[in-house]
Amino acid sequence: MEQEPVILEVNPKETIVINRRSFFGALLSIGAAGMGAILAVPVLRYALYPLYAKSNKNAWSPVGEVNSFSNSSEPVLKPLALKQLDGWREVDTSQTVYVIKSAQGELGVLSSVCPHMGCTIAWHAGEHEFYCPCHGSVFTPDGKHVSGPSPRDMDPLPHKIVDGKLLVNFEYFRENVPNQEVLS
Ligand code: FES
Repeated sequence: MEQEPVILEVNPKETIVINRRSFFGALLSIGAAGMGAILAVPVLRYALYPLYAKSNKNAWSPVGEVNSFSNSSEPVLKPLALKQLDGWREVDTSQTVYVIKSAQGELGVLSSVCPHMGCTIAWHAGEHEFYCPCHGSVFTPDGKHVSGPSPRDMDPLPHKIVDGKLLVNFEYFRENVPNQEVLS
């Protein structure tokens, strides 16, 4: 049986004729789109979580006793045990850092990850410089960029001394950009 049309007067000059079935169909479509948008928010947040989440598990990692660096005149390579967020999983991983000392005897910590493309930077005691074996970037003993494709100095890491122990907050930085940008 043919349904009666709904007649809407928009203004005195215009009249829109809407079939009742198409009217309810449109209403249902709008409702479904609204529900979809509401449900999409938590799904999107879940999907994008690894992009904005910071893996700050075990943020301060012990590097060693401060006293153990008192006699070192050169950068000291130290291993770190880290807990990192890999997507939605927490994984145990390891990294290395260099403990350096300023002329005033203050300790600093440099990431051993090359800012160019992420290779591990080596300390060349003979040349008294840091050297990246992948593409040949060279850095001074305090991490300043000397030559090679690295776009910036070696990355210094946040550190502090607590109860005579040196602690570091290991961070990853965006590669191959001139300024330090923390990733996680
Ligand atoms: S990764 Fe170090 S110079 Fe390219």
